[in-house]
Amino acid sequence: MQEQIVRIGLAGLGTVGGGLAEILRNNAEWIQKRIGKRIQIAKVLVRDLDKDRDVPPPPEAELTNSIEGLVRDPDLDIVVELIGGEEAAYRLISMALEEGKSVVTANKALLAEHGPELFQLAAERGAGLAFEASVAGGVPIVKTLKDSLAGNRIKSLTGILNGTDNYILSEMTSRGISFQEALEKAQELGYAEADPSLDVDGYDAAHKLTVLIRLASGKDYPYAELPVHGIRGIEAYDIDWAKAFGYQIKLIAQVKDRSGSLQAGVFPALIPEEDMLAKVDGPFNAVLLEGDAVGPIMLYGQGAGDLPTGSAVLSDIMDLAGSCSGASNSGFVNSAMERADILPAELTVCRHYFRFTVQDRPGVLSVLSGIMGEHNISIAQVVQKQEQNGEAVPVVFLTHAAQLKDVHNALAEIDKLSFIKARTRHHRIL
Ligand SMILES: NC(=O)c1ccc[n+]([C@@H]2O[C@H](COP(=O)([O-])OP(=O)(O)OC[C@H]3O[C@@H](n4cnc5c(N)ncnc54)[C@H](OP(=O)(O)O)[C@@H]3O)[C@@H](O)[C@H]2O)c1
Repeated sequence: MQEQIVRIGLAGLGTVGGGLAEILRNNAEWIQKRIGKRIQIAKVLVRDLDKDRDVPPPPEAELTNSIEGLVRDPDLDIVVELIGGEEAAYRLISMALEEGKSVVTANKALLAEHGPELFQLAAERGAGLAFEASVAGGVPIVKTLKDSLAGNRIKSLTGILNGTDNYILSEMTSRGISFQEALEKAQELGYAEADPSLDVDGYDAAHKLTVLIRLASGKDYPYAELPVHGIRGIEAYDIDWAKAFGYQIKLIAQVKDRSGSLQAGVFPALIPEEDMLAKVDGPFNAVLLEGDAVGPIMLYGQGAGDLPTGSAVLSDIMDLAGSCSGASNSGFVNSAMERADILPAELTVCRHYFRFTVQDRPGVLSVLSGIMGEHNISIAQVVQKQEQNGEAVPVVFLTHAAQLKDVHNALAEIDKLSFIKARTRHHRIL
């Protein structure tokens, strides 16, 4: 019988593209056993044709720097987009889908902004659009939501989706170093970019959360409306206080289904030390899901890197190579997505951590707790540092569940008080 070959047009031979090429080379026979076809990288798109590469293009592949030359090649069966960025990647993917070619992408930024229209286009052209690698690298969260848990209503999803931020927070926690020192170490190790804002300001986690919200709820929560707070403002001080109370600070991406409305956001939060999410350290990712039938499930693994991310890309290629159908790219039969009913983050009810910096003088505590009480916030624990010769001292409050709106109103009042010597630090407790 003649060998069946699936020809791939690989756009991008950087970290992930190189990882994919390596796995395809190492596991070629195994892959053929699984799907009965040989996957061949037939054409590779790069920016610089003359660059020296750690992972060279496969010997049988043609190298090009023309997006059209790749996408319009009639001999290619599947296009794999691993160039990143938005403009060129958008052009490449929409052109490929227009041609009726199935696409695999790892591009969360693009999907967060343009996912619904690309899924619509794929459905119109009967093409596949697969994106396992776009969230949490090697962790198979997309297929878990789309396939394994397809019959569940997802009540909540809580993720640690950015390995760089998690590495920085883990270093601050275990070594007692500042945010800046931990960031510099992450940059030295190649975990963080020279411009780290996509990671540390929470946008990368927000891109991924946008993709996951669609899969979990079938609704589109526009990326631009997602409340996002990153980890830049976290001080070693807060990490220490959190530790003293038995918590770890993590950057959390979360969506909860509140009777059909969605409450979602990216924010740093204190997690009880005994919770599984608190044990996710370094550059690892995890997602904790609560399905109505299955109950809680947690997935944990490497959220980035050449081979883990390449593994996720390959699983999509194998799916498409096996079926080549574009029936339910978005995870739902009808790919036109309704807009989600969004519950404002201000209505979130949870416990809270506050660190006030106060001038040490009598009556301070009763003023603070009085204002809290007026805003329906009830205090669970208070720790006040001993007097230090009239210097500003920290006072930490842990509260019972209170609404975020009340917390913001109370803080607006408190931060104007004359004995408050620095902006009050506030984090949610999960
Ligand atoms: N790195 C990870 O661990 C990871 C994890 C999850 C998802 N992702 C996603 O995967 C995608 C790829 O990331 P990466 O880290 O592999 O990127 P990368 O290392 O920067 O590699 C990008 C590759 O794309 C090529 N390229 C970029 N723009 C191009 C253009 N306009 N035309 C032609 N070729 C172009 C580059 O060519 P040259 O080599 O000639 O410069 C390079 O080979 C991104 O969407 C990223 O968000 C990455």
